[in-house]
Amino acid sequence: METKIFAHRGASKYAPENTMPAFELAYEMEADGIETDVQLTKDGVPILIHDETLERTTNGVGFVKDYEFHELQKLDAGAYFSSRYTGTRLISLEEFLEWVTDKPLYLNLELKNNKINYKGLEEKVLQLIRAYKVEHRTIISSFNSESVKKMRELDANLDVAYLRSKKHEALTSYAKSLGASSLHIKHTLLNQQVLYSSEVMNMPIRVYTVNRSANILQCLRKKCAGIITDVPDRAVKLRHRFE
Ligand code: G3P
Ligand code: CA
Repeated sequence: METKIFAHRGASKYAPENTMPAFELAYEMEADGIETDVQLTKDGVPILIHDETLERTTNGVGFVKDYEFHELQKLDAGAYFSSRYTGTRLISLEEFLEWVTDKPLYLNLELKNNKINYKGLEEKVLQLIRAYKVEHRTIISSFNSESVKKMRELDANLDVAYLRSKKHEALTSYAKSLGASSLHIKHTLLNQQVLYSSEVMNMPIRVYTVNRSANILQCLRKKCAGIITDVPDRAVKLRHRFE
């Protein structure tokens, strides 16, 4: 199976991360899918933003969880990247699903609940992907092992990935024990051992954040199930070499 290319936070090298311009660009660049980060607002709306706090990517201050969605909608989430993107807004997961519904894209929704344990996040995300009928092309991932377990309890068939950035002696079997169906690992964790165990245990591996050509080529050669990259255009071009 060919390695799927996921645009990390959209095509985030070229446009403000986790915003419509970055998602549109990823689609234009012919990424197979989009990876995005989900946090929860004060009024329980799943919203796409990487950090728990607003300062790095918006003109807001404080925690996402302390604002209602309508307040967060007023923020600028593009100017931090370039003045060209001034006026770009944060969007809800629902708005994203509305946009993606008629496009042939895979989705990787990362639940950002490893620092803040957002109550009900798993249920809300599941309810939305079911409502938009995209469960079959969605991967839910999380660094939070309890959340991986919970997601599996809620849905027996969904692709649920355990995300890992740090070493673990028995990573694949640990992920399997949580109920994960795939493994998302930092590129520094990619080695023969994890590739072998994932094959034996039938756990597809997707690797993040793979931007350098040499690393992209390594993932393609090793037939990883997916790569998550800020530069989907580069990855698409390199993949043509393998056709
Ligand atoms: O989902 C892979 C990757 O996005 C996890 O790390 O910090 O970029 O969300 P981060
Ligand atoms: Ca992420």
